[in-house]
Amino acid sequence: MGDRWYSEAVVYCLDVDTYADSDGDGVGDFRGLIGRLDYLARLGVTCLWLNPIHPSPNQDDGYDATDFYNVDPRLGTLGDFAELLHQAQNRGIRVIIDLVVNHTSDQHPWFQSARSSPDSPYRDWYVWADHEPADRHQGMVFPGEQHETWSYDRTAKAWYYHRFYKFQPDLNIENPKVREEIKKITSFWLQLGVSGFRMDAVPFIIEQTEPGNPNAPKDFDFLTDLRQHVQWRRGDAVLLAEANVEPDQLPVYFGDGSGSGNRIHMLFDFMLNGRLMLALAREDPEAIIDALRDTPKLPTGGQWATFLRNHDEIDLSRLTADQRNDVLAKFGPDENMQLYGRGIRRRLAPMLGNDRRHIELAYALQFSLRGTPVLRYGEEIGMGENLALDGRDAIRTPMQWSYKENGGFSTADPEKLIRPVIDKGDFGYQKVNVTAQRADSTSLLAWFERMIRTLREAPEIGSGSTTHIDVPMPAGVLAHRADGPTGTMVFLHNLGTEDVEVDLSTLAAEADLPIDVLTDRGYGDVGKLDSLKLGGHGYRWIRLCRSTTY
Ligand code: NOJ
Repeated sequence: MGDRWYSEAVVYCLDVDTYADSDGDGVGDFRGLIGRLDYLARLGVTCLWLNPIHPSPNQDDGYDATDFYNVDPRLGTLGDFAELLHQAQNRGIRVIIDLVVNHTSDQHPWFQSARSSPDSPYRDWYVWADHEPADRHQGMVFPGEQHETWSYDRTAKAWYYHRFYKFQPDLNIENPKVREEIKKITSFWLQLGVSGFRMDAVPFIIEQTEPGNPNAPKDFDFLTDLRQHVQWRRGDAVLLAEANVEPDQLPVYFGDGSGSGNRIHMLFDFMLNGRLMLALAREDPEAIIDALRDTPKLPTGGQWATFLRNHDEIDLSRLTADQRNDVLAKFGPDENMQLYGRGIRRRLAPMLGNDRRHIELAYALQFSLRGTPVLRYGEEIGMGENLALDGRDAIRTPMQWSYKENGGFSTADPEKLIRPVIDKGDFGYQKVNVTAQRADSTSLLAWFERMIRTLREAPEIGSGSTTHIDVPMPAGVLAHRADGPTGTMVFLHNLGTEDVEVDLSTLAAEADLPIDVLTDRGYGDVGKLDSLKLGGHGYRWIRLCRSTTY
């Protein structure tokens, strides 16, 4: 294990309220999650990322907090949360939480006070304009669901800015008191024992909003300041940020260019996510090769977080129109599967036609690419979506644990569940659940356990450097390698459906007893690497050599 734990972590993202309900009220809770930690330990995840846990009217699934210093009472108490941290730590699992400080709920006492009077001590905690801003109808993040970014508040008799929904007023980052408060929030949770934060909407947090200017400048110094604060409070804490921006802007989120990363430790790789989808849709690795080539060089300590699915729609907005159309045609052909004119609100298994070989290929590929893999709960058993639910709720259905009513998620009356469990068709809990897959050594769950175990023996993926192996390849095949102080891993992934043979003999001189460590089937000896067989949608992870001195 390298010095930086997050480089070789496997992050598992879950929403406590849809994971496991211990008290039968229909909402998942901390005690339910504690009861599932052994499952998570066996799966091999090393870090949990909890979607927002704060009190909230839940108009945006918790991304609208009313108190940053407490937990949503539906999930339990702060005591239960502390117990969760303790029990997770006992199993070597860290916990990070969402830090959603671009905005609050409009029900937050700060906003309630701010709107009540221009003299409120909280007035300047938000962003106001006396007159209707010219850019009122620009910059919406949720087109179709959101119609403006400035709304008039009758009580305040002023316009307030909200990058997201109307009920999420933006905090004013230019106010030093807001900055101090954000730092205090991080201190509080670090003191309780979290290992860091998934920072929501970072480009918008640092936006120095001015009415009428849709291209407001950004204050990156706040990220430097926050990083320093967090690191002093807890040396091994991480910031994992959501910053879905153009690739050339990414480096400045990691650091100020002075060499070492002094801002965000890890960024979600949205660019790779879109390109992975494109490559899968076209059965052509070119988009991934481009992504590997175009990846900006990271400062020391900087790291990518890779993902196939998260709790939001798959955002295809950075693909060209042709590329986007190809992905939509293949994976989200019905209008009902699409969202915001840019994305897909589906889980991976149904997108890939519930084809086990294709699902394995996709996840083997993600987990072998540079960075720290992030896995969304339920993907390890191949859960589906419920398109009858609104918007992004389609992919936020309860975890399917067993054959029991409600898929074992809760003993509540099905009518009382936070969201319905999927109970019909190929993805119903009767067919897709943990209990069934735990008992089956050939299940997708068993495969994930094996794959993640293999990753433990391949630290080069997380902390080494990854490059495309640029030799002639059969159509559809990606060959890449990861090099680190511990040795070299080589990966073959066949995005196409045809069986092929691959010649990697140019690597033979570097090889030292090369062996397959993860494959979709038995391929026999790797031999001289000159005639490596690879099935349609097949993959081979090959250890080329291992350093004996490290
Ligand atoms: C990004 C989060 O991922 C999304 O779920 C949320 O709606 C917005 N930020 C607003 O907080």
